[in-house]
Parts: sequence; structure tokens; C-alpha cells
Amino acid sequence: MKPSKEKFTITYKGKTIELPVYHGRQGPDVVDIARLYKETGLFTYDPGYRSTASCKSRITFIDGDKGILEYYGYPIDQLARNGNFMETCYLLLHGELPTSVQYEEFNEDIMKHSMLHEQIVKFYSGFRRDAHPMAVLVGVFGALSSFYHEHMNIDDPVFRNRATVRMLAKMPTIAAMAYRYTLGWTFVDPRGDMSYAGNFLRMCFLNPMYEYEEDEVLSRAMDRIFILHADHEQNASTSTVRLASSSRANPYACVAAGVVSLWGPAHGGANEAALNMLKEIGTVDRIPHFIERAKDKNDPFRLMGFGHRVYKNYDPRAKVMQQTAHEVLKHKGIDDPLLEVAMELERVALSDDYFIERKLYPNVDFYSGITLRAMGFPSSMFTVMFAIARTVGWVAQWREGITDPDQSIGRPRQIYLGPTMRDYVPMSERG
Ligand code: CMC
Repeated sequence: MKPSKEKFTITYKGKTIELPVYHGRQGPDVVDIARLYKETGLFTYDPGYRSTASCKSRITFIDGDKGILEYYGYPIDQLARNGNFMETCYLLLHGELPTSVQYEEFNEDIMKHSMLHEQIVKFYSGFRRDAHPMAVLVGVFGALSSFYHEHMNIDDPVFRNRATVRMLAKMPTIAAMAYRYTLGWTFVDPRGDMSYAGNFLRMCFLNPMYEYEEDEVLSRAMDRIFILHADHEQNASTSTVRLASSSRANPYACVAAGVVSLWGPAHGGANEAALNMLKEIGTVDRIPHFIERAKDKNDPFRLMGFGHRVYKNYDPRAKVMQQTAHEVLKHKGIDDPLLEVAMELERVALSDDYFIERKLYPNVDFYSGITLRAMGFPSSMFTVMFAIARTVGWVAQWREGITDPDQSIGRPRQIYLGPTMRDYVPMSERG
């Protein structure tokens, strides 16, 4: 990355300095402020990192104004319509789509590592049966670090590759067990001769009393949902993984930190919140009331599944997701009134000045809940599915960060607003 001819000049307290400006391959130019504090004594203040590039990356490109999302240059809709999740994982990890030989080897490697150590399985019995599956996922995935720490050497590509394969392979097994645990069902071991998505659905839904018959349409829909959620550049959970790993911590624990960040309703938890909102709205005639609430500054209510920090246009994932919702519902012969509510809500919002002016469009989570519900999942599992898909993104970004010579421990500063220095007062003298 070479500095461009343009410079960013800043004058503060009579001193002028020039800061380098970089051009990315695409996207906005970036001012390098690394020297700013040393040369001017100034920090920058950017809560929520609205104007901050926290790292260099080659993996995912988003143009939020145009509604573009690409993994290593491949548009998301092409990958979702024509590719599959395993080749998308390979792409995100290696930068190129695999040849058929590379694909077979990679797929086999992942499926081979999808079993869990018997001791890990024992963790589940410590959780309450009514625990949220995301809480179980955080705990059990974090616990993998206790099994794979002894030979940890993140500078060793062999360790990194092994950790990569294990994390991708075990996440669906852990997630499916979290689901079955809440239902009191026996756990189902993974199958190496099924697709990643098909195997996950089997581990969730198999009834041991009957033969399991794979539903190809649902497996394909699941696979597509995984592709759509696989990576999204420096979102909150990915930044969490990068920040946690900047201290060179155990990668399994870092990915567990990503799961935590994903859980919130402003991020991955929005799919669960969006479906709950559609249920609350219930019927089309109640939409105007909820639109008014979303616009009311004194009401904390927001349209869940609407708006995005980066997309100021239709989220390209939402288009594919909407189509997938229709396909799954049609296939299952379900006439879900919530789909009608969602489509009418979208129509009303997109013709309302409040949403137009703020460029608020449906995001990927708006239609994913309806789809996952039609597939048979309870809403508490929606974010878990997002976590399975995003694991590859977290891992790819962890690998990129850890091998970036510019990476150093993430250590933001602050604007201090607390008291200035004062002397300790013994308790007996405090009024
Ligand atoms: N409903 C109503 N108003 C909204 C919404 C919404 N969903 N989203 C943003 N606004 C308003 C907001 O009140 C503000 O208005 P004003 O300028 O008058 O104060 C304006 O739009 C800008 O909002 P913001 O909070 O500054 O935007 P942000 O970039 O900080 O927040 C967001 C992005 C995704 C957190 C937010 O749009 C939101 O809370 N959406 C609902 C939750 C959701 O669907 N999250 C999933 C994101 S996609 C999945 C993922 O990648 O994780």
C-alpha cells in the first residue's frame, strides 16, 4: 500500500503537519493518523468508528451507497445463487475459489473434524435447559480453547490451519447440540458424507426413531443463508475477534468473543428481534401504528431488520434472502401471514419520507427469520445460525490480522471526563 500524492494537512496550535493518504483498491481514501498524537498531542474521537479504518484487508468489499458486497471480488448474489458454502469458505480463507481437487480435500478435512471430544459433550449438562442457545454456544465454543491450547503457536501456519479447520468443523455440531439440549433430545453425531448445511439440519432435526431423509431444497436454502452471512468486513463481532486476537490470545477464545458480540439485537440478534417484531405487529392493518412508533423519537422502538451502518441502499443480501424466503415457504406449502406483514411493512416504509431521507432499507435479517421459522427453527436459534455462518469470516479475518506485519495490540484511547486527582478520604471521615 503506497501513499498517494495527496496529503492531509492539519494545523493545530500553530503547528502544521502533513499526513499520508492511501487509496484502497476500491472505497474511500484513508488518512493515516498514526503519527498524529506524537506530532500534535491530539487524539481523534470517533465513537462507533464511523470514520475509522481499523485495519487493511483483502477479504470483503462493501460499497454501502451502491449496495455492493463482494468476497475477494465475487459479488454475493453470484456466490449465493451459483456457489456453495464450502467453496465460499475456501475462498474467504485462501483468496481464490478452489479447484475440484482442492474443494474435495478441504470439504473432507472439515467434515472429518466435526465430531466433538466426549468431554466437551459433558459441558452441556451444566447448562439450564431453558438457557438461550447463544449462551450455550459462547460457553461451549469458548471451552474448545481448553482442549486446544497446549500446542498453541499462532505464528505456525500448521497450527493456524488446524485451528481453522476445527473451528469451522465443530461450530455446527456445537450449535445443533445447543438446540437439542433445550428440547431434551439426545445428541446426534455428525455425518461426513453429507453437505455442511445438510449435515447441520440432520443434526438438528433427526428423530432417532425414524430414518432421516434429507430435504434438498432446505439444505440448499440453509447453505445459501450461510453464504450470505459468511463475512461482512469489520462489523462489531469481527472487530471484536480482531481486537481480542491482537493480544495474541487463543483463537478459539477469540471466536467465542465474536459470538458474544454477534448476540446483540443491533447486530446478529436482529433476525430474532425482527421476527418477534413481525409477530407483535401480527396483521397488515397494524403496520401504520408501528411505522409511527419507529419514527417517534420518544419511543425506543425501531423497525428491526431495517437500516444498516454501512448500507445506505438495499442490502444486497436481503434481495437473495427475500427470494429464499419465498422458495422455502412455497416448498413447504406454508402460507405464513408474517411474510405478508413483512412485505407490506417493507412497501410502506420504503415509501415513507422518514425512511427515504435516512436511507433505511431492509437488511439481511428482515427476511431470514421468516425463512428459518419455515424451516422449523425457533427464533432463539436464528442468531446461532448466523454464528455458524460467520465463523469462517471471523477465522479468515483472524488469520489475516495475525499475519499482518502492521498488526499491534489494539489499544484505543479516550476523552477523560472524570474527576481530576484527589486524595483518599478514610471511610470514617466520609460524611
Ligand atoms: N428504525 C427506525 N429508525 C431507524 C432505524 C430503524 N431500524 N435505524 C436507524 N434509524 C434512524 C435513527 O433513529 C437515526 O435517526 P435520526 O437521524 O433522526 O436520529 C437514523 O436512522 C440513523 O440511525 P443510526 O442509529 O445513527 O444508524 P447506525 O448506523 O448507528 O445504526 C443499525 C445502524 C443497524 C444499528 C440501526 O439501523 C438499527 O438499530 N437497526 C435495527 C437493528 C438491525 O436490524 N440490525 C441488523 C443490522 S444487519 C445485520 C448485521 O450485519 O449484523
